[in-house]
Amino acid sequence: MATARALTSLPRGPAARLARRAASRRPPVRAARRGLAAAASADELTITTPDDWHLHVRDASKIASVVPFTARAFGRALIMPNLVPPVRTVQDAAAYRAQILAAVPEGVAFEPQMTLYLTDNTSAADIEAAAASGFVRGCKLYPAGATTNSDFGVTDVSKITGALEAMAACGLVLEVHGEVTHASVDAFDRERVFLDETLRGLCEGPRAVKGLKIVMEHITTSEAVAFCESQGENVAATITPQHILYNRNAMLVGGIRPHLYCLPILKREKHREAVARAAMSGNKKFFLGTDSAPHPRGAKESACGCAGVFSAHAALPFYASAFEKEGELEKLEGFASFHGADFYGVARNAGTTTLRKAPWTVPETYEFGGDVVVPFFAGETVDWQVVGA
Ligand code: DOR
Ligand code: ZN
Repeated sequence: MATARALTSLPRGPAARLARRAASRRPPVRAARRGLAAAASADELTITTPDDWHLHVRDASKIASVVPFTARAFGRALIMPNLVPPVRTVQDAAAYRAQILAAVPEGVAFEPQMTLYLTDNTSAADIEAAAASGFVRGCKLYPAGATTNSDFGVTDVSKITGALEAMAACGLVLEVHGEVTHASVDAFDRERVFLDETLRGLCEGPRAVKGLKIVMEHITTSEAVAFCESQGENVAATITPQHILYNRNAMLVGGIRPHLYCLPILKREKHREAVARAAMSGNKKFFLGTDSAPHPRGAKESACGCAGVFSAHAALPFYASAFEKEGELEKLEGFASFHGADFYGVARNAGTTTLRKAPWTVPETYEFGGDVVVPFFAGETVDWQVVGA
């Protein structure tokens, strides 16, 4: 699997090793600001190579600009299928996988885990062929109209019962964008309403599909956390860095910040706290999925801007900073490297990734297929970095 990268020479082991080197002699942040050798005094954290269980890498000219960021720090990533047109069949997924592998830098081992995009017409045969491929892990449910490129999505979950039953039978996971789309529901309530209106029926009661594994993608509310906790082992959730680090004030107070606009939208502080607590709880139902979703700058800084936060350039450092702030760094490895692999039923990665506490400034932009993308924390300082990235 995915471990033959420069980092494999670093110490291995099943548990995270937090080496607080020389911390008593010199505060690491100050040392780095003075330009001293960060390694001599920095904190280091080595964890089993992590996976990103929710990632957008786009296609064509854009793909080579973003795949290397993820490939250098993660062993695997679950690739979202919302291209135009979407990834609907195993043939589409095979072609897309080849594009991704072609964008992985020389000498880096990275295994894209593919998903199919469910439509009202996805058949049991489509599902069976995907499962037989060995490289498709699941299918994504986008309620039609819920988010970027979701026009081909599912108009009513009752239309995909056959596909869901085939998924349960073949062991493919259902990844859910959990928001209703009715105009009557406030944008900030769409996730909460989806839980009772749609998701509960898929998980419990007469319409539930027995044996189906479900991931509630990029959860943003205390209600979604509670729902996930209340369900059996077949229901889990991914959590993004932006939903741990920011509430909606960060996006809306003192001027509107389009680069923090994503879907589901950032919520109020009590929800951020609940989501962060879930990520850091050690509960195996919660795991890392960045939802890194790059758009060209002009598509975000627009009168009608696209949803999506690009975080792949420093995904792991963002989580590390958040976990450290709460004194929960030792929980990062479970969240980033174990819970997702265990839920998906794949082996945990064998290698390690090392983070070093050495503050750096995120560039204002990164090149993005002949355009530029404005990254999460553009122009700001991030405390951690992946060593060897
Ligand atoms: O913010 C988002 N961006 N949410 C999604 O669900 C889709 C994603 C994208 O593809 O841009
Ligand atoms: Zn997404």
